[in-house]
Amino acid sequence: MHLGKVMVVFGTRPEAIKMAPVIKELRKVTDIETVVVVTAQHREMLDQVLQLFGIVPDYDLDLMKEKQDLYSITTGVLTGLKEVMQREKPDLVLVHGDTTTTFAAALAAFYEMIPVGHVEAGLRTRNKYSPYPEEMNRSLTGRLAELHFAPTDVSRENLLAESVASFKIWVTGNTVIDALMETVREGYQFDDSLQGIDFNRRIILVTTHRRENWGNHMRDIYAALLQLVEEFEDVEVVFPVHRNPTVKDLAEEMLGGRERIHLLDPLEYEAFANLMNASYIVMTDSGGLQEEAPSLGKPVLVLRDTTERPEAIQAGTVQLVGTVQNNVYKAARRLLLDRSQYDKMAQAINPYGDGKAAIRIVRVITDFLYVRIGAANIN
Ligand code: UD1
Ligand code: UDP
Repeated sequence: MHLGKVMVVFGTRPEAIKMAPVIKELRKVTDIETVVVVTAQHREMLDQVLQLFGIVPDYDLDLMKEKQDLYSITTGVLTGLKEVMQREKPDLVLVHGDTTTTFAAALAAFYEMIPVGHVEAGLRTRNKYSPYPEEMNRSLTGRLAELHFAPTDVSRENLLAESVASFKIWVTGNTVIDALMETVREGYQFDDSLQGIDFNRRIILVTTHRRENWGNHMRDIYAALLQLVEEFEDVEVVFPVHRNPTVKDLAEEMLGGRERIHLLDPLEYEAFANLMNASYIVMTDSGGLQEEAPSLGKPVLVLRDTTERPEAIQAGTVQLVGTVQNNVYKAARRLLLDRSQYDKMAQAINPYGDGKAAIRIVRVITDFLYVRIGAANIN
């Protein structure tokens, strides 16, 4: 029996990583037709993930422009999806997380009166501008969604506090753990792009990209990294730099050509996840890394003032250190010097899931489509 058509829409690297397990599970249900649409808000970084997981999009809006702004992404996604949704007429549109693709796709689905399923729903900082624009992207998507796939009880509570009906929320775990478990393995052999790294030293893995950190905050973070490599000769900083020119130019200006600092192109997910597993500490303003690194038992210093992911902080493996140079430096220094503090933070914990989130999500979607068909027949 044909249950219906699900349109999966995403546009950036993290959405692709976290939607890949869902697409894989959806494709196992032959009664559901799955249509994959990428907005390509990211290009090369998205394509790396599509290739790794063997996802061939049915539609590619190819939107990315050098130094794009929020207006061009929002309007490009809206108008691009209008045509695709009107042609395909899906029964459900599935979006992920908090990017501008997420919000604009949910809005386009609403304009077409198509129900929206929101994967990774309910994370909140309750600060409109931090992370910016993600906090509002995620909240507004939540207002538009019909099905809310909350990764944890904390995110479920956030949704309940906003009067989302409890029967519309499912706690599924985060699909990032599904992707990670499929990808990290002992004895992974790194390719030539990582040849210069001395894995006998302690690796500090760094990523930064948040808009609210552009400029002086990032300068502060990079200055702290310089202090750390100068003080600790057994440390190497490995920094796969985001393609955003604002980030890339500053990273090259401040950290390029420095001894024991490796500025790399974005790594494909398999290499990156295994590099995380081989690291000593992770320092990042990324969302996804706050979920992945704790499950690998890696202490994470979060280079932000707020986080919508409090679970691993409560468990003690993640520390919110902000972006002030001295605070960043001191927090990392303490972990490098104090073994007991390090061991306390290096406990492998998994508040974000058990690797079966996608299976749970697809079960709910299947039931949802069944009920819709039943309701249509009664009417
Ligand atoms: C976007 C999301 C952010 C998410 C992040 C993950 C928005 C507003 N931002 O931020 O929520 O956490 O992705 O990485 O939705 N670029 C390339 N090649 C790529 C990708 C990016 O050249 O493959 C460059 C382009 O010049 C592009 C710029 O990076 O204009 C910024 O990309 P954009 O998607 O607007 O913002 P991000 O900072 O990547
Ligand atoms: N990642 C990757 N290659 C890299 C850096 C990160 O595959 O060089 C992965 C990382 O494991 C995580 C995701 O990209 O799953 C995080 O992406 P990003 O930090 O860009 O976005 P955020 O999670 O902050 O939205």
